[in-house]
Amino acid sequence: MGWKSTELRYGSLSIGIHWLTALLILGVYVFIELQSWFPKGSDTRALMKTWHFQLGLTVFFITLVRIAVRVMGPTPRIIPEIPAWQHWLSKAVQLALYAGMVLLPFAGWMMLSAAGKPVPFFGLELPHLIGENSDLAGQIKETHELIGKVGMFVIGLHTVAALYHHYFMHDNTLLRMLPERKDS
Ligand code: HEM
Ligand code: HEM
Repeated sequence: MGWKSTELRYGSLSIGIHWLTALLILGVYVFIELQSWFPKGSDTRALMKTWHFQLGLTVFFITLVRIAVRVMGPTPRIIPEIPAWQHWLSKAVQLALYAGMVLLPFAGWMMLSAAGKPVPFFGLELPHLIGENSDLAGQIKETHELIGKVGMFVIGLHTVAALYHHYFMHDNTLLRMLPERKDS
């Protein structure tokens, strides 16, 4: 399997990025949930938040590369062909996923900037994007949390659709996104 996508299957680069990002996003949600289990002001709670920020920012940077890869290469065909409405629905869901992977971390970065808080990134501290403004920080926080929750449903829909295609439609939707098996 080559690193580039073809008309028949996703390349190893797209597959690697897809599953790495899915794992990172799982971590992003797990850490923001876990932090609420620890007392306010505790070091553990702060550490969990730091991991939420760092993994989220990693998703942001990887997604910028990913969009370039996506725009440059073909999207492998689904065989047998799917109805037009499923095609457009899947495009809409994928667009929403891309939008979330860029806008959510960006909003998080803006939120910490507006709150005047550090933006940690694996030992580095990223620059503030805007000046301090606590009202704005509060507004971005509400939007970030709302989109974050909607994101869980969109991911759920995407996952159920992939499994439905594999187990009920018996097409190659999911197989195209999995590493190629030697015997196939
Ligand atoms: C894929 C990326 C991200 C997703 C899916 C995501 C999702 C979420 C979710 C679901 C919440 C909690 C909502 C709630 O408890 O009601 C949250 C809170 C938060 N997120 Fe993110 N986030 C992402 C990236 C980031 C980044 C990159 C930053 C900062 C650099 C960030 C900063 C925050 C902050 C400050 C909170 C509020 C934490 C608190 O309660 O104090 N997020 N995020
Ligand atoms: C956080 C979790 C996930 C995110 C953010 C995500 C995001 C994406 C995105 C943006 C694409 C479009 C790829 C392209 O540009 O062509 C995609 C494709 C795909 N994803 Fe996911 N995904 C996630 C989890 C999953 C899971 C759990 C499964 C399977 C159980 C899955 C199965 C697929 C499949 C089969 C495709 C190819 C669909 C097609 O080409 O029409 N994804 N995913």
